[in-house]
Amino acid sequence: MENAILKKIGYDAGNIASDGNRFLCANGYMGMRGIPEEDGSGQYAAVTLAGVYDRYRDRWREPVNAPHGLSVRLSFDGASMTPASAETVRHETALDYRYGLLSRDTDYGPLSLHSERFLSMADCHLMADCLRIRIRRDGMLEIRAGIPDDIWDINGPHLFDKQYQAGRILCCEAVTGEKRITVATAQHAVPAFAVEETYETGKGGVFRVWRKQVRSGEELALSVFAGVYTSLDRGDCKAAAEETCLNAGKKGFDACLREHMQAWDAIRDRSEMVLEGDGAAALALRASQYHLNCIAPRHAGSMSIPARGLSGQTYKGAVFWDAEIFYFPMFVHTQPEIARSLLAYRIETLPGALKKAAEYGFRGAFYAWESQEGGEEGCTNFNVVDVFTHRPVRTYFRDKQIHISADIVYALRSYYEITGDRSLLENGGAEVILECARFYLNRSNAHLDRDDVDYDDVIGPDEYHERVSNNAFTNRMIRHCLESALRLEEIFTDRRGWFEALLKKLAYEADWERLGTLIQRIRGPVIRGGVIEQFDGYFGLEDCSLETVRARLCHPKEYWGGDHGVAGTTQIIKQADVIAMIALFPGDFTDEEADANWAYYEPRTEHGSSLSSCMYALTACRTGRLDEAWDLFLRTASIDVTGGGKQWAGEIYIGGTHPAANGGAWMIAALGFAGLRVVRGEAELHPRLPRQITRLSFPFTAKGKQLQAEITHHHAVIRPR
Ligand code: BGC
Repeated sequence: MENAILKKIGYDAGNIASDGNRFLCANGYMGMRGIPEEDGSGQYAAVTLAGVYDRYRDRWREPVNAPHGLSVRLSFDGASMTPASAETVRHETALDYRYGLLSRDTDYGPLSLHSERFLSMADCHLMADCLRIRIRRDGMLEIRAGIPDDIWDINGPHLFDKQYQAGRILCCEAVTGEKRITVATAQHAVPAFAVEETYETGKGGVFRVWRKQVRSGEELALSVFAGVYTSLDRGDCKAAAEETCLNAGKKGFDACLREHMQAWDAIRDRSEMVLEGDGAAALALRASQYHLNCIAPRHAGSMSIPARGLSGQTYKGAVFWDAEIFYFPMFVHTQPEIARSLLAYRIETLPGALKKAAEYGFRGAFYAWESQEGGEEGCTNFNVVDVFTHRPVRTYFRDKQIHISADIVYALRSYYEITGDRSLLENGGAEVILECARFYLNRSNAHLDRDDVDYDDVIGPDEYHERVSNNAFTNRMIRHCLESALRLEEIFTDRRGWFEALLKKLAYEADWERLGTLIQRIRGPVIRGGVIEQFDGYFGLEDCSLETVRARLCHPKEYWGGDHGVAGTTQIIKQADVIAMIALFPGDFTDEEADANWAYYEPRTEHGSSLSSCMYALTACRTGRLDEAWDLFLRTASIDVTGGGKQWAGEIYIGGTHPAANGGAWMIAALGFAGLRVVRGEAELHPRLPRQITRLSFPFTAKGKQLQAEITHHHAVIRPR
């Protein structure tokens, strides 16, 4: 179907890491990198589990990769057939974005292999693969389907005491090192041919092997089902994994596929945008939506999404502000129960945030910059490795990126404003807001001889400039957080007793009195010729072009920020910072002010983070820079189609999918091009449609109503569905 399928011809060994991301299959519970069944850890084969973490020795904690449940290897007349081998005649991969269905066709000469696989959206513990082998020459074929002991880990190993079980159902049961979490993968292969089979168990894993003298023209089909459970899901996870694949085997591949497709139809019915007028843009938008939808935690009431989704272990599988500022808008407008799960995760991890604040000597909630399970901080003090000295570089993201707590409050408040659902605030959300506000009361820098209050020694979204004072974005977010705390009183006017009891429980009375004063006293930004200074002293930094700074690099993977980075002493910034503030608080600025800042900062922005372009695009829509908005939209939406984005921060590999950009693409289309605004459940459109788009149509919800927005150059309407 047009604009729904990503195709690649050829096996591209040099881009295997990036292709594994682009062709990712996932279902929120787990993600499987898009590589052929025959490939292993050398090609970054991984089944990454959501919310299961482990730490090996003193290495970085990261998500656990389960064994590969859909591994199949072939050999013909003793020669192993792999897509990477020189003899391979043709190899083609295709991902259908509508259904997360990955197919591949490989012509090995003596035989060809076609397969279709998916990670079930109907049962998140199930994955299935259907393989067809066509024989072109007489010879001896060997098929090995199994669970290899060949797991790609960045900071592993994570699975120990592996116990293999051979038989009709193969199984690998193992435990993680740190918390002794059991991970069970079971595999059930159903051949449509009658050949005696043997089993092999050993160091390399567990396999079912079929050997057959085959004749040219013969066709063999095999369905493979795998079930994955951990002891976090169920005590008897091995039995559950076995049952999952056994039942799927009974049902058959086609029936499982039908259920999976129905589940995807339901997801797309609630979220799918239709863009007409530009085929490449339509494909990119579809890709963005696929990538964000396929990693949403639909199986859990309280779970968030890591910065690289389920495409592997990069960024330690941690949850960043990306969740609240970049993914949240699509979910809250289309599938609010997922937005709720992202926020429930923050409510649940409040104890971790209280603990982190206390570690730094503050009261209140200071959320982890890189949050793992339980709110544990995954960000280390040395988060980058220098390419010249190979030494870890002291970075301050963990300590100084204090806007994270206010970002969470921003989403909590938006959730209430957009859905009208107060229950999240009643069930821990109000406490989160109050504790975050308390952190900012505590973290402020007051002066004996001045009235205004500073926030010194912080890092804003632009991570290249560390330890700055009065970052305009951070100060504005803090003000919003404090205002949100005060607004709770109004939200709970009908539950006064309950709210007062909450303040009492939190021993908040004295802090409550100080909130209003602090709001008045937080330092506003310096403004020069309409341009907001990003932080104190920013305008005094060297004002040179991006090209000049780039020309100073001595190494392609060199880190631009920190003490010795090329950007630190200049006005070149990594990503939207002032512009992110303008995008999040559009009402604070006139169009002229927004445009003056856009014109100043855009040429000074490296867009070194995939979070950057969407903020610039949103502001460009508003100020009528539609050609620029269009280019930034394409850049944002196509990142996981082309496999773009930075792959390295110094010597640390940071490749993977880009959920924040995926969410950013939705934001540009819905909030920018269509100009959707939902205020207290009432929706309006203020379209700014670029000339390249002839029609934009998408579903959304407002206060429980299911609506559809339809925009062309002649009309813009919202109709009930
Ligand atoms: C960006 C952060 C972002 C993180 C995870 C970094 O490169 O600077 O803003 O949260 O990546 O996506």
